[in-house]
Amino acid sequence: MQIRENISLRQYNTFGIDVRARYFSAFAGIDTLAAWMEKNPKVKRVILGGGSNILFTKNVDGIVLKNEIVGIDEIKEDDTYVYVRAGAGENWHRFVQYCIQRNWAGLENLSLIPGSVGAAPMQNIGAYGVELQEVFNSLSAYHLHDKKVHNFTAGDCAFGYRESVFKKQYKDQFIILNVTFRLRKHPVFHTSYGAIREELEKMQVGELSIQAIAQAVINIRSSKLPDPAVIGNAGSFFKNPEIPQKQFEVLQKTYPAIPHYPARQYAVSGSDDQGFIKLAAGWLIEQCGWKGFRRGDAGVHVNQSLVLVNYGKATGKEIYNLSGDVLHSVHKKFGILLEREVNIV
Ligand code: EPU
Repeated sequence: MQIRENISLRQYNTFGIDVRARYFSAFAGIDTLAAWMEKNPKVKRVILGGGSNILFTKNVDGIVLKNEIVGIDEIKEDDTYVYVRAGAGENWHRFVQYCIQRNWAGLENLSLIPGSVGAAPMQNIGAYGVELQEVFNSLSAYHLHDKKVHNFTAGDCAFGYRESVFKKQYKDQFIILNVTFRLRKHPVFHTSYGAIREELEKMQVGELSIQAIAQAVINIRSSKLPDPAVIGNAGSFFKNPEIPQKQFEVLQKTYPAIPHYPARQYAVSGSDDQGFIKLAAGWLIEQCGWKGFRRGDAGVHVNQSLVLVNYGKATGKEIYNLSGDVLHSVHKKFGILLEREVNIV
């Protein structure tokens, strides 16, 4: 394992924040990494995948470990499903395309999401009506304390809206090594999301296919969301809030056009999740006048207020402070406290 010193992290996070790591190393397997950690138990560690859901607000006085475990293997199949295992360091979108080319269905709605395979279950990535948990079969992860590899089923991961055990009770405890997906040999199409239907119509698709859906998603994302290679960002900065039905009804009287959706049920029915309404944080932020706002090189994206951007030289603190201002103004106007989706380091 090659350890480099005093490395800029700019190219390792999609926000393009120029902080430095005291030590930096990539790892392609767990053995050498485990041996290194055994020898250096006191060094602070930050595990990095594609760096697409992280905001660095200061230098890392420890080691940044970049997961570069690769490999895609078909491990078994039956009449309905194919089970595919991918290394956590694989690029997410390249993996999605690999599967689409082989007509393995289920990932098409999740096309073009920045990041790595290993980061996908961490926050149960989701887009255009599909979440990772619907195609997830299992994963293996190395536990930093007991130094063993553990297997997790979907139940073990306790997926929620942009949530899993790896963001909550097991935060910073596991390194995800690989993820196994259960993909369909015969597709079930997810086109209920309005924007997808509109885009498919625009594309004048004759026969629906996973390839067409992937293309529709790619078109929508490219038109709405900034490309991190061009403008630094980490996708949605906040989660869409879920509020009690009663609170929603009061708001709707003042703002009849407020976009809203039934909140997804993660818990078993009968839980106190019932009676919640999900709102579009982007809409709330836009209503507070932030859309297109810029302060120095930190900004709120011109097409999607849920996305904070770095036009070049913004620091992580400047982005973080802007997120705080956005949060306060939404709270003041609507009485709703937004929650950050991006990991702050
Ligand atoms: N809207 C506004 N103004 C804005 C932004 C949005 O009025 O500035 C309105 C839209 O017009 C629409 C509604 O808000 O009525 C929802 O907007 P959109 O369809 O763009 O989706 P979103 O709720 O803002 C979520 C995910 C995205 C995902 C899209 C599509 C979260 C936090 N974000 O965004 O995920 O791509 O839905 O499914 O749930 C991400 O997690 O990084 C991410 C990009």
